[in-house]
Amino acid sequence: MALLNRRQWLGLAALAGGATALSLRPAEIGAPHSAFFARLSKALREAGLNQPTLVIDRERLHANARRVRANLAPGLALRLVNKSLPSLPLLDEVARLTGTHRQMVFNQPYLRLLAEQRPDSDVLLGKPFPVAAAAQLLAQPPRSGFDVPRQVQWLVDSPERLAQYRDLARGQQVALRINLEIDVGLHRGGLPDAAALEQVIALLREEPRLHWSGLMGYDAHTEKIPDVAGSRERARAHVLSTYREHLAALRASGQTPVDGVLTLNTGGSPTYRLHRADGPANEVAVGSALVKPTDFDTPLLADLQAAAWIATPVLKVQGFLAPNGVEPLGQAAQLWDRNQRTAHFIHGGHWLARPASPEGLQASGLIGPSSNQQLFLGSGRQGLRPDDLVFLRPTQSEAVLQQFGDIAVVEGDRVVAMWPVFPARG
Ligand SMILES: Cc1ncc(COP(=O)(O)O)c(C=O)c1O
Repeated sequence: MALLNRRQWLGLAALAGGATALSLRPAEIGAPHSAFFARLSKALREAGLNQPTLVIDRERLHANARRVRANLAPGLALRLVNKSLPSLPLLDEVARLTGTHRQMVFNQPYLRLLAEQRPDSDVLLGKPFPVAAAAQLLAQPPRSGFDVPRQVQWLVDSPERLAQYRDLARGQQVALRINLEIDVGLHRGGLPDAAALEQVIALLREEPRLHWSGLMGYDAHTEKIPDVAGSRERARAHVLSTYREHLAALRASGQTPVDGVLTLNTGGSPTYRLHRADGPANEVAVGSALVKPTDFDTPLLADLQAAAWIATPVLKVQGFLAPNGVEPLGQAAQLWDRNQRTAHFIHGGHWLARPASPEGLQASGLIGPSSNQQLFLGSGRQGLRPDDLVFLRPTQSEAVLQQFGDIAVVEGDRVVAMWPVFPARG
């Protein structure tokens, strides 16, 4: 039997190497819009929307609201996270479907807006405000009938801040409802230790104008930390034990709420399903999950659906040509990855969002992002033409929902409402 010579061996090796490389080559992907996104496109086009637009699918929003409500453990109330759904009609819709008028508010302008426009709201702050912001609201109360001392729970995270609020209560001769932020493990804020808690209790005892109204312990970290050797379960247990300890200490000190009702807030979208009726809290805060941006694609939120996208027109479609100077790199990239063959320049871009439809679009590694005309590459199977719409899914709802003017609300195949958003504020 004739043995292969050296040249033949090299040829065989090259062939095998080539076959292996080909098998590693990214598969060609991409498809036109699904029926769902084709419907959204048609609705937006018929409404004459030809600028980057935030769009909400009303059916999905409703389904999410109904699911969140159904998922709540009996005895747990729901508080809407105002900054994550930053539009009054959006908040109204979700409030109606979930049967709550509780909101968690994160800055003074939104607190004033809510107090003026929705005077029956029950407000808990989601972060401590500088006392000057509280003083301003009390000095110029809303004219809607919203009763600031009765309807706002001021969040307090330290004895120093509580002393400032005490001085405010004395100066303006008003009673203030004080909800104490506790650190249940996130280490972002809250009373740091038992000594701080003791000082807070002493201050509450001394000043009858300060009315303790509850606790707030935010626990988003438990679902974000790496789950190594039971770390997640331990962090979850720590949330509950810390919460219970603070509640017990306050009760043992003789503190009772003036109206007999405590607001014991916890959770957020990532954790609301973990809280049960036998836990220390009596309400959970939820916002983002109701429109489900990509950061909320987690197992505990698997039963909710994405309900908000950025829709933006394609301005130009052409074979991808890398910029002058790196053209050969672009050609090599396209030879390797057929999904880099077609360039789509869109209207706007560089948002906190990922391409969602049509499938198979990706940013270019050779050209960076652009807020003016972002480039998305694809195989061409998407079949996009200039003026067609592409859809991006926000990574978060906070801030992003406010970047596009009024939100287009689609029901069936029509835009049925344009919802104004909150003015952008920090
Ligand atoms: C105090 C507090 N509670 C709850 C949330 C949860 O908000 P979302 O449901 O939008 O994640 C947040 C988010 O920042 C928060 O700061």
